Amino acid sequence: MAAEQTFMDKLTALCKRRGFIYQSSEIYGGIGGFWDYGPLGVELKRNIKERWWQDMVIDPPCGPDGREVEMVGVDCAIIMNPKVWEASGHATGFADPMVDCRKCRGRFRLDQVFRIEARRPDAAEPFAVFTVQGDGTHSALEAARPRAMKLSKKHGGGEFALAAASFKDVLATDPRVELLACPTCDEPGTLTEPRQFNLMFQTYVGALQDASSLAYLRPETAQGIFANFKNVLDTTRVKVPFGIAQIGKSFRNEINPRNYTFRSREFEQMEIEFFCSDASSMEWYEFWRKVRYDWYVKLGLRSDKLRLRDQTPAELAHYSKACADIEYLFPFSDEFQELEGVAHRGNFDLSQHARFSGKDLTYFDDEAWERDKERFPDPEQARQAKNAPPYRYLPTVIEPSAGVDRAALAFLCEAYTEDAAPDEKGELQTRVVMKFHPQLAPVKVAFFPLVNKEGMPEIAAALYREARRYMPAFFDDKGAIGRRYRRQDEIGTPYCVTVDGDTLRDGSVTIRDRDTLAQVRVKKEGVIAWLRERLGR
Ligand code: GAP
Repeated sequence: MAAEQTFMDKLTALCKRRGFIYQSSEIYGGIGGFWDYGPLGVELKRNIKERWWQDMVIDPPCGPDGREVEMVGVDCAIIMNPKVWEASGHATGFADPMVDCRKCRGRFRLDQVFRIEARRPDAAEPFAVFTVQGDGTHSALEAARPRAMKLSKKHGGGEFALAAASFKDVLATDPRVELLACPTCDEPGTLTEPRQFNLMFQTYVGALQDASSLAYLRPETAQGIFANFKNVLDTTRVKVPFGIAQIGKSFRNEINPRNYTFRSREFEQMEIEFFCSDASSMEWYEFWRKVRYDWYVKLGLRSDKLRLRDQTPAELAHYSKACADIEYLFPFSDEFQELEGVAHRGNFDLSQHARFSGKDLTYFDDEAWERDKERFPDPEQARQAKNAPPYRYLPTVIEPSAGVDRAALAFLCEAYTEDAAPDEKGELQTRVVMKFHPQLAPVKVAFFPLVNKEGMPEIAAALYREARRYMPAFFDDKGAIGRRYRRQDEIGTPYCVTVDGDTLRDGSVTIRDRDTLAQVRVKKEGVIAWLRERLGR
């Protein structure tokens, strides 16, 4: 009997079949952690990025003080001077502790391998101890259950409970790695001592390949923004508070790329570094936390699968006052997973870059000084004066940092729906429909002639040609009309326009709504305006 398809099996099959996402270099057997976006995937991703740029950079909501929020963008090189990564801490700190197995050559992140203990109620000793891999405690326990059941039967059956502890936690209390089993070989004694594994991809710049030409593919876009802070200040008229935004590729040599595109080795980020005074920073933090959460809700992520989780004080970086993760309950896990982080970063990054580059990255608040000029004719004197406002300072940073691919995956998961729709004979059939928010849908409208005669194809083609000037559109004259609707439902096209016998008689066409299946008749001269109004194009 064929195994039942999981939600992710169905979604990944649809993404492949309809050209959303392909495995990278698939004809050569693929390569772990890299993905290609097909004709529909690229439109979806473009829509996400364009929406983000429009809503965060071009026209962001008003700030906590009710004033316009000032935002500008940059597009920095992927390869930067390696000193950037020394200053940011990535060269030394951007590492996961790992163990290697000498026997199977597997490499495992300490926080993603779990020692499982299966124990009878009230028993002092477990009847089984073994190792599984998992994204978190919950998924490790799920992975362990079938094996624990088998072992329980072997040991006479009966009730049992499972406990999972990551190798990271186990080794923190007892550092003897030789007691732990490799999850693949299933025997203790084959694992190496834990080692730090730097996640940055290395390359060489120029002809020489030695330490002097070593460089890195950026693991985040944020540092390009910090490195250009002074350039932006010097070449534009921005004033604190303001933000710099960037969208671009980042690269991390993840040990366990997994869960489809969720953890990839090459991915895109959409990051904002928002510079403000320390006194106003918590207000701005609250502002961005809410703006970013609302953005996902507005674009269709259902609120019960989306949550905003404040990090506990123990999770916070030493320089951070607060951090919130926007998390989504992806179908491949029982635990919420990070979609975006909104972090209060203090002035850590700017002070690091000032120190490592030797450049003055302070901001001079000339307007505040102007107001106080009589009191302090010399700005330096003002800075020194007791109780004087700080005219020159390193701004505090709030960083909303999102992943384009993770957002795309969440929107795909949320959109995938199976419901029932009547076929040509009026009988209800299961249909697969991607209920994307219209602004994210890769194709906005499809045009069909009901039959390929009596001038219907010509009218439909003319409407299609006009629609393309404003929005991605599709023309389809192949197969039964019901099948054409279903093909568009499966890729999430919000509207289908059909030219039929009535069009020839009274000049009207049918417009069918993807979600409600409601059909309205609209004069063909007014169709494009009707669509543009509803789709905001
Ligand atoms: N500048 C801060 C920063 O990069 P992060 O939490 O490491 O923070 C931010 O990354 C976002 O980038 C994540 O919330 C996620 O959406 C995305 N991201 C990070 N690593 C990723 C990976 N391996 N694959 C796909 N997306 C990733």
